[in-house]
Amino acid sequence: MTDTLTIALPKGRIGESAIKRLKAIGLANNISPKSRKLVFTDNENIRYLMVKGVDVVTYVENGVADVGIVGSDTILEQASDVYEIMDLGFGKCKFSIAGMKDKELYKSDEVIKIATKYPNIAKAHFKKKQQKIEIIKINGSVELAPLVGLSDAIVDIVETGSTLKANGLSIIEDMFDVSAKLIVNHTSYRFRQKKILEIAERMNKFMESENNDQDTEQQR
Ligand code: PRP
Repeated sequence: MTDTLTIALPKGRIGESAIKRLKAIGLANNISPKSRKLVFTDNENIRYLMVKGVDVVTYVENGVADVGIVGSDTILEQASDVYEIMDLGFGKCKFSIAGMKDKELYKSDEVIKIATKYPNIAKAHFKKKQQKIEIIKINGSVELAPLVGLSDAIVDIVETGSTLKANGLSIIEDMFDVSAKLIVNHTSYRFRQKKILEIAERMNKFMESENNDQDTEQQR
């Protein structure tokens, strides 16, 4: 293990929010989210790996990255063996089951078809409900599946709800909340705890000041 701390960041919405916050606490100073570069090093000698959200967990689990920032949806789906040390308070959305309006979902004598990017989360949910399902694994634009009759419903994340609305779908059932988390490799946490906790503390202070600003704004 070298002295450089490595942080895996996801591309996309969570990654952009993460970079904004890292910059606000004086880190990630020279990362440009729009760049095609995959590795950056900042002023504090922290190295950043720009990867797909689903791969953040893999890089951290294998110790190539000490730390990662990723949505709790991805962590849960991969049932990963990493420490989740902090809720970062952004990337908030929820897991929902959605489908055509008024769709009756639970049928004890039938297998229902569920399209999703999250087969493990969907399976666990319907197992609890004792509903038999067939999973149809989709990699994106999941909302299309019930529209064209590929599935009875979808299990997906809903943020603003605009994708569901634009496609005439409704939430049938809410499952649980999702947000961005700071995850840490087990060995890194043991041997680099001081630096990792120092970064977490800086992020925490930033979150507190952001919340205070919001409170002041609301009181005006
Ligand atoms: C996610 C998710 C929904 C959408 C929800 O997809 O799978 O489709 O965002 O957001 P909304 O409630 O704000 O509309 P993403 O944008 O990651 O693209 P994808 O469909 O290609 O996976």
